[in-house]
Amino acid sequence: MKANIGLTDKNAQAVALILNKLLADEQVLYAKTRNYHWNYEGDNFMEMHKFYEAQYGELAETIDEIAERVRKIGHYAEGRLKEYLALTDLTEPSSTNDQQKQVKNLLDDHETIIRYTRKQIDIIDEKYKDAGTVDFLTGVMKQHEKMAWMLRAHLK
Ligand SMILES: [Fe+2]
Repeated sequence: MKANIGLTDKNAQAVALILNKLLADEQVLYAKTRNYHWNYEGDNFMEMHKFYEAQYGELAETIDEIAERVRKIGHYAEGRLKEYLALTDLTEPSSTNDQQKQVKNLLDDHETIIRYTRKQIDIIDEKYKDAGTVDFLTGVMKQHEKMAWMLRAHLK
C-alpha cells in the first residue's frame, strides 16, 4: 500500500536513492571495520579488537535505521551486495595490519560519509521537503562525526 505522507512521488523517490547510496557506503564501511576487528595484529590487539567491534556495532544499527527509513517513505531498501558495490563511493584497499593505515583508511571513509550527508541534508531540505529524513540524517552525520573523532585520536 502506498505511503500517503505528504511527499510527492518524485521527491520520495529521489530521497530513497540518496538513502540507498548511503546504505551502500555504510555496508562497505561495516565490512572493512569488521575485517580489521578480525585480522588486526599488534601489541595492543585487544584494545583495537574491541575498538573496532564497538565501531562496527554502531554501524550495524545505523545500517538498519537507514534501510528502515527508505521503507518509511514508501520505497524498497537495497539489499544486494552487488548493488552496494555499484552504488558506493568507498573503495576496498588491499589488506594491511598497520594500525595507522587501517585507522586512516576508516577515517577517510567516515569523512566521505560526513561530507555526503551534510550536502544531502541541504538538498533534501530545500529541494525535496522531507523534514523527517533531514532530521534522521543529521543524527547519522553527528554519529559519524563522533566515530571519526575517535579514529582521528588514534593517529600520530
Ligand atoms: Fe568478534
